[in-house]
Amino acid sequence: MDRRIRLVIDGKEVAAREGERLLWAALENGIYIPHLCAVKDAGRSRAACRLCLVEVEGERRPVAACAYPVREGLEVRTRSPRLDRLVERAFELILSRHRLDCAVCPARSRCQLREIARRRGLQLRLRSLTPLPLPAEIDASPQSFAYDAGRCVLCGRCVEACRERGAGILGFVGRGWERRVATFGDVGRAEAGCRECGECLKACPVGALYPKPNADRSKSG
Ligand code: FES
Repeated sequence: MDRRIRLVIDGKEVAAREGERLLWAALENGIYIPHLCAVKDAGRSRAACRLCLVEVEGERRPVAACAYPVREGLEVRTRSPRLDRLVERAFELILSRHRLDCAVCPARSRCQLREIARRRGLQLRLRSLTPLPLPAEIDASPQSFAYDAGRCVLCGRCVEACRERGAGILGFVGRGWERRVATFGDVGRAEAGCRECGECLKACPVGALYPKPNADRSKSG
């Protein structure tokens, strides 16, 4: 049976399952930590977005809460001037390669970038970074949905969802700023064998994957 342990987050004593990742332990106890790439119950966290950084007593550097297992007596801080700076920087970095077309974005009401900005008082615009060239690719090959690479934040959640519950056709290609989500063989999703199960759409935290207007909804989960 899972052992329950106690830890302290932002001065509040909370209970969690031993070994559970700190991010989920905090969220389940009503303590918000920004996050974008984390997938609950995924075997391994990619810790790619760096939005969930927290300070843990005894650790020299901030750690990614989505990858850090909790243990008895842990003392955690989710806010400090240093953390706020790092999170703001990571957030702006993500914005620098994301097309900010909120007014027409299909994910406007459920976008996690907007949620993070709202909760942390961050701006949805670039302050110190210049925007990177955005990939122009739009894969509209599936009947029920499309993928717009210019909105993709490279969180990897669609890749994970496709591997775990879909046809397993997605992966990352390229390096650095040229990194992108693609199918094996770099062909359209339909040609790669997409079953249109809709798991990638559910996993996308922004508007990179969206249902096509008038699509047959029975095709997307
Ligand atoms: S949610 Fe932890 S690094 Fe992205």
